Amino acid sequence: MIFNDRGLLFGGRLAKTRCMIRAATTKDVRAIHALLQIFAERGELLPRPMGQLYDHLRDFVVAVDDQTRKVIGCCALQICWQDLAEIRSLAVDPRHQHRGIGGQLTQHALEEARHFRLEKVFTLTYRPGFFERFGFVRIDRAQLPRKIWADCVLCPKFPDCDEIAMIKTLGRRS
Ligand SMILES: CC(C)(COP(=O)(O)OP(=O)(O)OC[C@H]1O[C@@H](n2cnc3c(N)ncnc32)[C@H](O)[C@@H]1OP(=O)(O)O)[C@@H](O)C(=O)NCCC(=O)NCCS
Repeated sequence: MIFNDRGLLFGGRLAKTRCMIRAATTKDVRAIHALLQIFAERGELLPRPMGQLYDHLRDFVVAVDDQTRKVIGCCALQICWQDLAEIRSLAVDPRHQHRGIGGQLTQHALEEARHFRLEKVFTLTYRPGFFERFGFVRIDRAQLPRKIWADCVLCPKFPDCDEIAMIKTLGRRS
C-alpha cells in the first residue's frame, strides 16, 4: 500500500473519526487551551490565555472522540455586532485531521450563526482553501470593524498581521 505524508491512501479517503460536537464546559478548558497552544506555537493561530477562554467559554463547541471521550477539536463563534460574527480558534488535533472534523465544526458554527440571525461570518486565517469550501471569500481586512483588532495585541506578529480575512454571507443553507 502507498501512503502520502498525511497518511492518506492514494486515491482513497481516511476513515472518519466518529465524534460528537457539543457545547464546551469548564472541564474542557485545559484541553482547548492545550490544543490551541499547539498551533499558536507554530504561528498558525492566535494564542488564547486560559482566563480569556473562560470569559468566552460560551462561544465554544468541542469535538469529542466517541471512543476516547477526549477533546480532539474546538471552534468558537464570537458575535461582534448586530449582523456579524467571527469564527475563531478553530483547531483539530493533528492526529485527527483530514477526517472531516474541521468541516463539521465549521458547519456547526455557520448553523449557530443562522440561529442568531446573523448575516455574515468572517474569519482570519492562513487556510483560505479550507474556508473557500464553505463559501467564504477573501476581503480586505480594513472592511472589518475596528473592535475586532483588540485581541491582536496578544499576537506575537502584531502589528504585522499576515492572516487572510474571509467572509461568508449567510443564505438559508450553507
Ligand atoms: C484547518 C483545520 C481546522 C482543518 O481541520 P480538519 O479536521 O483537517 O478539516 P477537514 O478534515 O474537514 O478538512 C481538511 C481537508 O481534509 C479533507 N478531508 C476531509 N475528510 C477527508 C477524508 N475522510 N479523507 C481524506 N481527506 C479528507 C478535506 O477535503 C480538506 O481538504 P482541503 O484542506 O484541501 O480543503 C486544521 O487543519 C487545523 O486545526 N489547522 C490549524 C489551525 C487553523 O489554521 N485553523 C483555521 C483558522 S481559525
